[in-house]
Amino acid sequence: MRESSKYNCIYLIGFMGAGKTFLGNYLAQELQLEFVDTDEIITSRFNCSIKSLFDNEGEEGFRQIEYSVLKDLITKGKRAVVATGGGLPCNDYNLALMKKNGITVFLDWPIETLVNRIKYDSHRPLINAHKMDLLEYVTKELNLRRPFYEKACLVLKNPTTEDILDAIRDRPQFLNR
Ligand code: S3P
Repeated sequence: MRESSKYNCIYLIGFMGAGKTFLGNYLAQELQLEFVDTDEIITSRFNCSIKSLFDNEGEEGFRQIEYSVLKDLITKGKRAVVATGGGLPCNDYNLALMKKNGITVFLDWPIETLVNRIKYDSHRPLINAHKMDLLEYVTKELNLRRPFYEKACLVLKNPTTEDILDAIRDRPQFLNR
C-alpha cells in the first residue's frame, strides 16, 4: 500500500467551542475538499437534534451513532475535512480509526476561551446539563479528554486558519493525491 493512500481525511478534533466547524469550513474551501460535520450527518440522518438524540438514546446511544457515522465515512472512502463532535475521538477505538485514515488535528484552546464561546449555547446537551458549574465541568471533562486529543498527529495551540493550513501543507502525502 502506498504511504499516501492512508490519508483520506483531515479530522479536526477538540472540545466544544474549539471552532472545528468554523475552521473546518474554511480549510475545506482553501484545500478544495468537501467539508463534513459528524453532528450534521447525525442530525440529518435521524432528522432530529443532538439534544433529542441524547434525550431518547442517552449519551451511550449517541456515542454508538457517532461511531457508525465515522465508520461509514471511512468505509465509503470519503475524502474530506471532517469536524468531529467533541467526544468522538475520546476512546481508543475511534481515535485509532481516524489516525489510520487521515490527519488528526487537535485545536487546543485555553479553558476560559472555550467556556466563553459555549456558555450561552442552548443546543449542546452537555452544556445545558452543566450551565451552573460550567467552568468546573469543562475543566474536569477536558482533563479526562486531553490524553486522547493530545494523541492527534498535529496539536495546534490557539490556531488561526493560516496555522492549520501551514501545518497541513507540511504534509504533502495528503495534498498530492
Ligand atoms: C459533544 C460535542 C458536540 C456534540 C454533542 C456532544 C461532546 O459537538 O457532538 O453535543 O461530547 O463534546 P461539538 O464539539 O461540535 O460541539
